[in-house]
Amino acid sequence: MLFRNLLWLVVTSLALLQAQTPPPAAPAKEPPKIVAGVPANYDESKVGAYTLPDPLKLTNGNPVKDAKTWRTKRRPELVKLFEENQFGSSPTRPADRWFDVFDKGTPALDGKAIRRQVTVYFSKDKEGPKMDLLLYLPTAATKPVPMLLNLSFSANSSTVDDPGIKPGEIWGRDKKRVAPPAGRGFGRLNVAPFLTDGFGVATVYYGDIDPDFDGGVPLGVRKLYFKPGQTEPAPGEWGSIGAWAWGLSRALDYLETDKGVDAKKVAIVGVSRLGKTVMWAGAHDERFAMVIASCSGEGGAAISRRDYGEKVKHLNLRFGYQFAANYQKHGDHVDQMPMDAHMLVSLIAPRPLLLQTGDTDYWSDPKGEWAAAKAASPVYKLFGKTTLESSELPPAGKADFNTLGFVMHAGGHGTIPSDWDLFRQFMRMHLK
Ligand code: GCU
Repeated sequence: MLFRNLLWLVVTSLALLQAQTPPPAAPAKEPPKIVAGVPANYDESKVGAYTLPDPLKLTNGNPVKDAKTWRTKRRPELVKLFEENQFGSSPTRPADRWFDVFDKGTPALDGKAIRRQVTVYFSKDKEGPKMDLLLYLPTAATKPVPMLLNLSFSANSSTVDDPGIKPGEIWGRDKKRVAPPAGRGFGRLNVAPFLTDGFGVATVYYGDIDPDFDGGVPLGVRKLYFKPGQTEPAPGEWGSIGAWAWGLSRALDYLETDKGVDAKKVAIVGVSRLGKTVMWAGAHDERFAMVIASCSGEGGAAISRRDYGEKVKHLNLRFGYQFAANYQKHGDHVDQMPMDAHMLVSLIAPRPLLLQTGDTDYWSDPKGEWAAAKAASPVYKLFGKTTLESSELPPAGKADFNTLGFVMHAGGHGTIPSDWDLFRQFMRMHLK
């Protein structure tokens, strides 16, 4: 009897443990020690001390004491620093961009949604470059809805499970547009729970804006802006991240015209390099009401001066095309950079920002993201906004959600299903 009782106890506690443990994201792998010939540090004791530039001090040395000075003086200075040194400048709204709403409102997703599909043409040229925007609005909505705008690694037709989506194309290995492989794309989006919460969902494929490979400039939007004879962006002009961020702003241009959408309440979400992208898009374009950056890491929300995991040097060597050419100047002495990630976070103030990462995503330095949010807090406080409450890195599963939000899942790089529930929670907190 005793034995049976004991066995029952063991079995039920194991089952309970399993039910409570969320499925891990990418399995915890040994993080890479040397990448592109450059070593990466994972030893907290070797991170070293660093001093961050003060977001609340103007270039002329004067302190920023109020929101107005931030808005009119400091914020423009910082935007310029990030343009010149990291992401590059990007053009303003093109006068000749136009929208073709080719799917005007079809019942979809078991009747829960009204689906629209729109081609955003970046210029007069019908051949492109152009971007397909897919959007779902809750059928039950009685007024314009807040939205989540997702920047996806996959074509719309592989991002959402809905046979009515126009078949998309992606960039293939030989740098040509091809049909995506059948079935799930990378980063599948479950729209239904958002609809239930009263949110709309939109998604675009990042490759429609600019391809994600070195030498892709002639195939994306940036060539539309070349001066006669120009073949590459100038050293302070946009890399692909700048282009993808600009594309999100063009998606918002459309959403502003859609009667079903509350365009003043659009949150943007992206993971990894697209996490960096939504950070920059939100920093640059204040029309975005909220930013949700998943595992944005180095070049995103992680402090570069904190020597842990990926370095600017790694980005310079492996992903230079994603940034302004000027970013190359900084890899060897990040301590001299006029900016760092906490200033990128600051540029999103006073709007809500959620940083989500994974506790074993060592390469992208979760603690460096948390530290950036902490260091940006004075700017949020200038606006009377709430910031992180944690005084040290909170453990996986413990959300620190205020106007600034931070959370880690147990596991590695990427967005896992339970993260999407947290995104909805954060949206309910701030966009309802
Ligand atoms: C690489 C890169 C990261 C980036 C990631 C991704 O790992 O080093 O900075 O975030 O790719 O975009 O998947």
